Amino acid sequence: MATSEGRWHPHLWHPFIQAATADPPLRAVAGQGAVLTLDDGRELIDAISSWWVTLHGHGEASIAAAIADQAVRLEQVIFADFRHPAAERLGERLSALSGLQRLFFSDNGSTAVEVAIKIAWQWWRNRGEPRDRLIAFEGAYHGDTFGAMAVGARSLFSEPFEPLLFSVARAPWPATWWNDDGVEGREREALTRLEELLEVPTAAVILEPLVQGAGGMAMVRPRFLRAVAERARQAGALLIADEVLMGFGRSGHLFASTGAGVQPDLMALSKGLTGGFLPMGVTLASEAIYSGFLSEEPRHTLYHGHSFTANPLGCAAALASLDLLERAPWRHRGMEARHRPRLEVLARHPAVRRPRLTGGIAAFDLSGPGLDYLHPAGRRLQRLMLEQGVFLRPLGSVVYLLPPLCIDDPQLDHCYGALAGALDRL
Ligand SMILES: Cc1ncc(COP(=O)(O)O)c(C=O)c1O
Repeated sequence: MATSEGRWHPHLWHPFIQAATADPPLRAVAGQGAVLTLDDGRELIDAISSWWVTLHGHGEASIAAAIADQAVRLEQVIFADFRHPAAERLGERLSALSGLQRLFFSDNGSTAVEVAIKIAWQWWRNRGEPRDRLIAFEGAYHGDTFGAMAVGARSLFSEPFEPLLFSVARAPWPATWWNDDGVEGREREALTRLEELLEVPTAAVILEPLVQGAGGMAMVRPRFLRAVAERARQAGALLIADEVLMGFGRSGHLFASTGAGVQPDLMALSKGLTGGFLPMGVTLASEAIYSGFLSEEPRHTLYHGHSFTANPLGCAAALASLDLLERAPWRHRGMEARHRPRLEVLARHPAVRRPRLTGGIAAFDLSGPGLDYLHPAGRRLQRLMLEQGVFLRPLGSVVYLLPPLCIDDPQLDHCYGALAGALDRL
């Protein structure tokens, strides 16, 4: 069979890839369940849910049918002047599940974060009490648009844009792992620093609840999240939970923040929102925040919107995805228990450092000196895994599994077995 193996397409520009040095991308022609099929007939287990979006599995029939059904009734309508039944139903359901009453729609995770920041910032101004401080965490990643980049950690990715990014105060992120005896001390230090930062009137604190994803699957304990929320509340700062990665069951709970006992004021959602079928972002806000924008004064309006705001196809996909999550909650609740024994075995491998697990995300660092994001070990591991029929995308020296919920036990065993084999050969 003719394939595109080893070639770059003459007209496509891929994200996060240095085409001068990277391997050309694989060519996918189909996806079903946990498996992607390439144009040469090879099959790969998608062990990272295609950048963490494919929640239930590829080709999930009920979501595809819901989109098709919606498409022939109403595919799109301007949301400034119209509402529609799919958005209404999604509003009712997400609000009941999150404890936040108002949904603002956008297009992806970055825009969901942008909107949350703009709402928090303007809310204080609408009250006539402007607060100029935003607090984020070291190592955070919130997306690639300018506001999202600004609240994210400064890195190689944001370096060219540095002069364009607004300044943000930053607290340490006391990441932890199995058998970590230093966590208490690091949490104490982080909270002390946060308290100092909160002495300046703060508009909002933004964080990735429980797991910083792109920052290296850096996991904190739920008690740290609760302590941050408590400090923010005491200082009167709004709390923004960026649940773009963790939302919709990845932590084992529907939302990582509420599952840990924290009620944020604003929540950013995307990725698993539509089951991974369509790009859509949602920023959830409390009624108290929403009412801060109701005014006779035009300048109190939230002047933000996108052409595809509340696209009916995205809403239909999201409703079908929620149906699946509610019909089979044991799938997301059970992922951690399925990873645990397998990660315990893998953790004995000498190349595995700092094993850690939260819900459906199992991660570890490759042992060895100086392993960072650009270190070639991650790419080498990726190639070795491809030979074993598993698609992984290590974050430099951080290796993780984050498969779709439909992955079965033999497939999960295969991922762990292939990893052990690849680590032997690394
Ligand atoms: C926590 C978090 N926030 C925001 C984003 C940005 O989402 P998107 O890539 O859809 O813009 C990501 C993407 O990985 C993320 O993990």
